[in-house]
Amino acid sequence: MRVVLGVAGGIAAYKACSVLRLLTEAGHEVTVVPTASALRFVGAPTWEALSGRPVSSEVWDDVPQVPHVRLGQRADLVLVAPATADLLARAAHGLADDLLTSTLLTARCPVVLAPAMHTEMWLHPATAANVETLRSRGVRVVEPASGRLTGADTGPGRLPEPEDIVAAALAAVRESGPDGGHPDDLAGRHVVVTAGGTREPLDPVRFLGNRSSGKQGYAVAAEAAARGARVSLVSANVSLAVPAGCDLLEVGTALELQERVGSVLEAGDVDAVVMAAAVADFRPAAYAEAKIKKGHGPDDEEAPTIELVRNPDVLADLVSARGDDHRPYLVGFAAETGDASGDVLSLARAKLQRKGCDLLVANEVGTDRTFGHDDTTVHLLKPGEDEVTTVGPATKAQVARVIWDHVAPVLG
Ligand code: CTP
Repeated sequence: MRVVLGVAGGIAAYKACSVLRLLTEAGHEVTVVPTASALRFVGAPTWEALSGRPVSSEVWDDVPQVPHVRLGQRADLVLVAPATADLLARAAHGLADDLLTSTLLTARCPVVLAPAMHTEMWLHPATAANVETLRSRGVRVVEPASGRLTGADTGPGRLPEPEDIVAAALAAVRESGPDGGHPDDLAGRHVVVTAGGTREPLDPVRFLGNRSSGKQGYAVAAEAAARGARVSLVSANVSLAVPAGCDLLEVGTALELQERVGSVLEAGDVDAVVMAAAVADFRPAAYAEAKIKKGHGPDDEEAPTIELVRNPDVLADLVSARGDDHRPYLVGFAAETGDASGDVLSLARAKLQRKGCDLLVANEVGTDRTFGHDDTTVHLLKPGEDEVTTVGPATKAQVARVIWDHVAPVLG
């Protein structure tokens, strides 16, 4: 296999020597592409000696061979270890200002990035957003290990062990094999996925909203597209990169979401609707055209009472609008905290019955769980079946995969 091993400029660059050794010893042809800063940590002669191949970090070397295009195009795997915060940012934004970032743009093979940086840099929202963008484009970003960093400090940000990096990279190649790790069991299908959380405006500057990030819905949409479906992604207030192959339909409120889903259903033959969006059950009865102001008098203690009215239950309406052919297949989500009236599973069962959908995906939520997080545990419930499938703790992509594993075979 032809491997490009990118090395960015961090102290962990020395560990990339072991990654290189493991790859060459396994018989792979490895071209090392360090960044200019990586060469300040480990010099070109080391990479050349270990790989047995010339090393360059600039697009200006060996120009007749057009290396900035050729390397990426010919590679079977591009692995970057360590990937610094800077490299993640440049990759996420599609910069091509050196040989490594140009190679990342021209690669059509699996791309695996193994980040290493200080905990603060890894946890910074800018880095988190860059990782999110890269993952949404199919780049595999390995979780950094936790432990001792360069100095005496500890925390997440350590480069994983070379053996683990190589294992993750080879797994990415295996999964991208002939079926791409994704069966094409949704080819020819049209699915609608709702994602995010609706916002119900109160006045020009305020709304009633919820904490849904849209990550789970976007993962469901991405998985469906990867399995060959045409995907209409009805997205409510989500700021994530749109997964490849999805048609984005943006909405704000519950009523807009219902309208949008309805018009997609009217326009075409939809096989399944996955209602991953958190739809507000209530909206303010009145919208104030001007900002609601508080009184400024010395005795002004009054606060307005906001009257709410119910929003339609989009999912339940879809269930009751279905004809005898029982299409489209309807998937509901249940975000439950559990309460005095029951635990998450019993509340989910009651909700499945109430909604009448074909599959209910229930997860436990709370201020510190699930919303915006990458790992989640869900329970899949079907009407008339006592059996519950529990998935997790798993990534939202893994949950998405299991959902379609259940739905794809039963689409009529
Ligand atoms: N849903 C919907 N329309 C609404 C509220 C929810 O279509 N007005 C959908 C959601 O997209 C989700 C499912 O119904 O797929 C369950 O959402 P959830 O908020 O958990 O349930 P509710 O019906 O709102 O029930 P409750 O608030 O009583 O838990």
